[in-house]
Amino acid sequence: MYCEGVALDRIAREQGTPVFVYSRKVLIERFQELKQAFKPAQPLICYSVKANSNLSLCKTLAGEGAGMDIVSGGELFRAGKAGVPGDKIVYASVGKTEEEIDSAVKKGILFFNAESVPELDLINKVCGRLKKRQAVALRVNPDVEAHTHEYITTARKQNKFGLDPKTVRKVFREAGRFEHLDLTCLHMHIGSQIEKVKPFVQALERVTALAEELNATGARITHLNIGGGLGIVYDKEKPQSAKLYAQAVLAILKGKNFKLILEPGRFIAGNAGVLLTRVVYVKNTPVKRFFVVDAAMNDLLRPSLYAAFHAVVPVRKRQGRLKKADVVGPVCESGDFIAKDRPLPGSLGTGELLAVMSTGAYGFSMSSNYNSRRRAAEVLVNGSKYAVIRKREGYADLIRNEVIVTDKEWL
Ligand code: LLP
Repeated sequence: MYCEGVALDRIAREQGTPVFVYSRKVLIERFQELKQAFKPAQPLICYSVKANSNLSLCKTLAGEGAGMDIVSGGELFRAGKAGVPGDKIVYASVGKTEEEIDSAVKKGILFFNAESVPELDLINKVCGRLKKRQAVALRVNPDVEAHTHEYITTARKQNKFGLDPKTVRKVFREAGRFEHLDLTCLHMHIGSQIEKVKPFVQALERVTALAEELNATGARITHLNIGGGLGIVYDKEKPQSAKLYAQAVLAILKGKNFKLILEPGRFIAGNAGVLLTRVVYVKNTPVKRFFVVDAAMNDLLRPSLYAAFHAVVPVRKRQGRLKKADVVGPVCESGDFIAKDRPLPGSLGTGELLAVMSTGAYGFSMSSNYNSRRRAAEVLVNGSKYAVIRKREGYADLIRNEVIVTDKEWL
């Protein structure tokens, strides 16, 4: 198996496993696909940094003209390091702290996507102190069912995200109270890995109608941010294409004169990456066959957290009968699995290299040091060459900020 022109077993041999491998070409193609689909509207496409926040990936996308959708001071820092200008950054999150708001205002970001009234008050206060005006979007919770995993639906009224329409209206009625803010955008993000266009349409119709209603009563909403959430193929999904999604969105916005912002993450990075892992043991029990591999839930949390499906494919083609097996990591939890009951070649043995597919988004970015496992290396392929874009962690990295307490440290 190859990533562009580079054999995956070469990367594994030279860099060790587990290792995430990304294709620069796919990353750019996916970004361009979306950009082309929305061409008539010339939107600002803010890549959702949380999907994969590696600096080289962010920088590559910034080079294509992408802005960044961030959710923390850390992501603001990363966007800065990737050379993304403030006026291409939008900032969501229900819990922005004063320190985070302060640094984002100083950076001159395009929009805060505000998620509560106390947050608006705090942004207003910080702007007053810094003597700066700031554009702010209100994140609307349009109360729609996105038909995706419960943990990643975000726009039902019982979710913590956004403001209900009634509160949005109230905020605009009392807009004078936010004297340092320009409330010029409505934002929505209804969830992730959404395969059908219908929930997007439902939500956008509600949000657009709300924006028009508010503008008719004196508001000056110039932008709509429609969030991310586009589903991709992991297994047998048939998600809407970028083209179909764009057509549906543009049909709603036709003749309405709002500038458009998008926040895709998974759509751009998801299918651009694989996780390479080696079989450490083949373990047969009376009822199961396990491939114990050197990647684990700390490297790829999605199967454990969402029962997510990732295809597992031997890097070298193997003949022979397929036998069902679980692919599991070495972490001390039964929830530590990469795949369950998958038909895999019976001839697979120790040392075999497996590719865990479609792990470019929410793979490395959700990884941890659980079980004191060093986080994996990341590699970016460009044609027939590759570069290490994050070194594998060493043991020293695991304890870098730790202190063995002696009499001196008690405060
Ligand atoms: N905008 C906002 C405000 C978001 O919260 C998110 C993702 C995005 C954009 C990008 O969504 P995307 O285009 O990637 O669907 N860890 C989960 C996904 C969590 C998504 C969180 N928010 C997973 O592995 O499936």
